[in-house]
Amino acid sequence: MDKVIIFDTTLRDGEQAAGGTLNVQEKLEIASRLEKLGVDIIEAGFPASSPGDFEAVSLISKEIKNSVICALTHANFKAVDRAWEAIKGAAHPRIHIFLSASDIHLIHQLKKSRDEIMKMACDTVARAKGYTGDIEFSPMDASRTEPQYLYQILEAVIDAGATTVNIPDTVGYSVPEEFGGLIEGIFKNVKNIEKAVISVHCHNDLGLAVANSLEAVRRGARQVECTINGIGERAGNASLEEIVMAIRTRKDLYDLTTGIDTRQIYRTSRLVSDLTGFLVQPNKAIVGANAFSHESGIHQDGVIKMPITYEIIDPRTVGVPSSSLVLGKLSGRHAFKQRLSELGYSLEDEDLNRAFTAFKELADKKKDITNRDIESLVAEEQRTVSEEYHLKRIQVTCGDKGVPTAAVRLIGPDGKTIEDAALGTGPIDALYKAINRIVKVPNSLTEFTVKSVTEGIDAIGEVLIRIESDGVTYTGRGADTDIIVSSAKAYINALNRLIAATGEVS
Ligand code: KIV
Ligand code: ZN
Repeated sequence: MDKVIIFDTTLRDGEQAAGGTLNVQEKLEIASRLEKLGVDIIEAGFPASSPGDFEAVSLISKEIKNSVICALTHANFKAVDRAWEAIKGAAHPRIHIFLSASDIHLIHQLKKSRDEIMKMACDTVARAKGYTGDIEFSPMDASRTEPQYLYQILEAVIDAGATTVNIPDTVGYSVPEEFGGLIEGIFKNVKNIEKAVISVHCHNDLGLAVANSLEAVRRGARQVECTINGIGERAGNASLEEIVMAIRTRKDLYDLTTGIDTRQIYRTSRLVSDLTGFLVQPNKAIVGANAFSHESGIHQDGVIKMPITYEIIDPRTVGVPSSSLVLGKLSGRHAFKQRLSELGYSLEDEDLNRAFTAFKELADKKKDITNRDIESLVAEEQRTVSEEYHLKRIQVTCGDKGVPTAAVRLIGPDGKTIEDAALGTGPIDALYKAINRIVKVPNSLTEFTVKSVTEGIDAIGEVLIRIESDGVTYTGRGADTDIIVSSAKAYINALNRLIAATGEVS
């Protein structure tokens, strides 16, 4: 059976989504998980775009051995050289050059002629070829490019050494029939096309990214560029889990396979959501909280009698935990460890001990501990930012009489205990002002959301915040049964990320 190459761009196009900044360690953690998922190619970043991206791509290149590591670059020699510098340590490096090809972009943005673009494309592909044999070229905005010119540029870059030609629907404008037709046109009109793999890269502005990608695959494309949970620029990219599960579930139609270990999908989706702060909508296909829950009586009846009646995918195939039995106060370390492993976690001894202690503390406050509680608890323990400040204690008073007041104790740099207090318009305002009196890093709060992890008034509340400093957004998350404590944890988490990125400590 023919294989579709899965090219994941969560760390590049996914991270380009507004507010999606990840630090270097988090990028490495996601890359390791993508490798376990069986992704063929990981687009690790855009090295010329920032020193942080360069560092992340270099680190990922050193650590990841099984997947190809790809670096994106503009079509100029300096950027190509920088991309190579970042990935030269990879076991399997790829350079991905992109350059606009549509007249809309050429006239209004680049102000260059088609001939100039053709030359830039070929020159930079040839330059990159001097570094590695694995070269991808993307004529940006391909779906709005005049087809004859698109065919010419593809033929020229393949002659110059491109081994993959990627067809981006950059602005998510195409529809399946038309996009599939474009792929067919490329097969018919690009003379040397058998020397390259045709890839597709679809954006979701009309909600058609997955449909367009699948139609392209049906017409012969053999690489799909996608992201976990479909995150990405604007409305996002084609979602990896939807593409992979469509190909697998409809084998009758596609007769194709991928190298993805589908049992790792759910766990990867959770990790990406936790680290980017992009929540997964409950009705999201494959990985949404409701993707496998049957509410209507008729459906429940059918699923009990025979799952295939209303379930086209066995949830275990994508790693959704089969056991929904709750744990509680009396559950021991063994049961906890067993459940962690069913959820796809394998924690080192020290991490396991910390997670088990947190589990016991939670079980003292909350009667039934569900899978979602455990995931939230492990995510809380594993927040990977190095902590300049650590929350020790908070005390908040509020109500409809009197002035909300917060007192905070933090452990700061060098292990020093620092305390302060503040008044505010409400408990969070007072709390954040008290923290600001200690951590004197200017920022503004741009987003604040609280959500309960499970139903019930004793549920864990997860707080997600975004703060902005010097035009850069930092995400923070915190989880606790007390949402004021979650809010404090989320703010400290965001501040620690800001400090780690800028080196700014008060
Ligand atoms: O959407 C796009 O065109 C891109 C290219 C860089 C491939 O992301
Ligand atoms: Zn894109």
